[in-house]
Amino acid sequence: MEMWYYKFVCAARTALSPFVNTVAHRLRLEKSTREGNRMDKFVINGCRRLSGEVEISGNKNASVAILAAVSLCDEPCRIENLSQIGDVDVFMQIYEKLGAKITHIDAKTIEIDPSCIKNAEIPYKLTKLMRASYYFIGTLLGRFGRAKVCMPGGCDFGSRPIDQHIKGFEALGAAVSVEHGFIETIAKNGRLAGNSVYFDNITVGGTINVILAATKADGLTVIENAAKEPHVVDVANFLNSTGADIRGAGTDVIKIRGVPYLHGTTYGVIPDQIEAGTFMAIAAATGGDVLIKNIIPKHLESISAKLTEMGAEIISGDDWLRVRCAGRLARVNIKTQPHPGFPTDMQPQAGVLCAVASGTSVISEGVTENRFRYTEELARMGAMVKVDGKTAVFEGVENLTGATVRATDLRAGVAMVMAGLVAKGTTEVEDIHFIERGYEFLEKKLTMLGADIKRISAYKNGEETPSGQIPITAGKALKKAN
Ligand code: EPU
Repeated sequence: MEMWYYKFVCAARTALSPFVNTVAHRLRLEKSTREGNRMDKFVINGCRRLSGEVEISGNKNASVAILAAVSLCDEPCRIENLSQIGDVDVFMQIYEKLGAKITHIDAKTIEIDPSCIKNAEIPYKLTKLMRASYYFIGTLLGRFGRAKVCMPGGCDFGSRPIDQHIKGFEALGAAVSVEHGFIETIAKNGRLAGNSVYFDNITVGGTINVILAATKADGLTVIENAAKEPHVVDVANFLNSTGADIRGAGTDVIKIRGVPYLHGTTYGVIPDQIEAGTFMAIAAATGGDVLIKNIIPKHLESISAKLTEMGAEIISGDDWLRVRCAGRLARVNIKTQPHPGFPTDMQPQAGVLCAVASGTSVISEGVTENRFRYTEELARMGAMVKVDGKTAVFEGVENLTGATVRATDLRAGVAMVMAGLVAKGTTEVEDIHFIERGYEFLEKKLTMLGADIKRISAYKNGEETPSGQIPITAGKALKKAN
């Protein structure tokens, strides 16, 4: 290159760079203000029978636990079948803060090199966004002998203590203090040591967190009264594929023999049984005929059993289920329980089924403290439901009627979408960011089944535009693989 031309380019770049940076900064600011001001909603015209095929995405709760487990490893791990959902996005932001190297392989695959993590502290603004951030207490404690993480956020359905996690960390030799909103854990002897941990109540998060902390501890840890959810098994399978020694996951006694080193791996997350269950419920509620693909039917047995009891016909194959329903659903009684019982994460969706079934149905919540907030929204659509403590009694009505309702949390939100699909007229579901924490491309999947649903970007200034789900925004911070 000619010298004069090179000098000209350098001078032009220097002169223009403040302007370019300012414009870029303005655009970023404007975009983030617009995103901050977004109040996106779904607009649904209901009463359509849904039919066709739907492909189920990767399991949200397994994804976040496995992504956290990667931080225990000593070599890069490639995680496949991740959903493009808000919770995965938050985890990528946490990894950035921790200093890990992230490579975005494709829309569903991310490679994380955790060997460069030096920092064992996660800021409040990220942990408050989701409950599963508490898994970093187990992993960072297990790897560095200490961790400082804010008390977790997540869906609000009553008090959600983490005393059983803390009890587990203490049993492994950690000193735990909770001050100024942070949980600080320090291994008393610099390293954790295996021990017995008995949970007073079944806890999914507690079970996974103690597995994570014990994976690199010295000696044997035995967890009794462990949770048996599919994602507990998936985390154990992932860790075993990196050289961990975990046995018994999926039963109520799990044994973990600590290992010093975890190598890299490529691992695919299991399908999301709650997303699958939601589509099963939608098929039944709309009197539809839906083939649900990429699932593990065994994980859906309790949901299949209840839908069959209500009159739906369910045919299953190796990795698919077909749900067909004609006529009005029959009444049912449901009690949510830890796996393999009926999942609490399907309780609001079951509530919509009960709202339109013939006769009186009773739902008892056996896992969480208060998960019936959605019934107030459902009542605005004409449902007849009374809640007394942990029990809701539904007098089934023939029709729900469209209304403007709110997503009060993730599963409550998807239940409102379901109600909108069933109702006569137009339903607007607001605060759909809750739903997009855990459902990938919900409106697109429903549209493919024949639903009339549109995602509208609404701004606080009253402006409204049709829009699509924002893909993993962490993509902007990720390096694209060639
Ligand atoms: N509990 C305690 N002490 C503890 C931990 C839990 O008392 O130390 C209580 C909770 O308050 C709750 C019950 O035990 O009443 C069960 O809590 P669990 O620990 O099993 O729930 P979690 O780990 O916080 C996970 C899922 C939830 C799901 C529950 C129950 C993740 C990230 N979250 O939460 O998923 O509802 O298990 O199955 O895995 C969702 O996907 O919408 C969702 C909320």
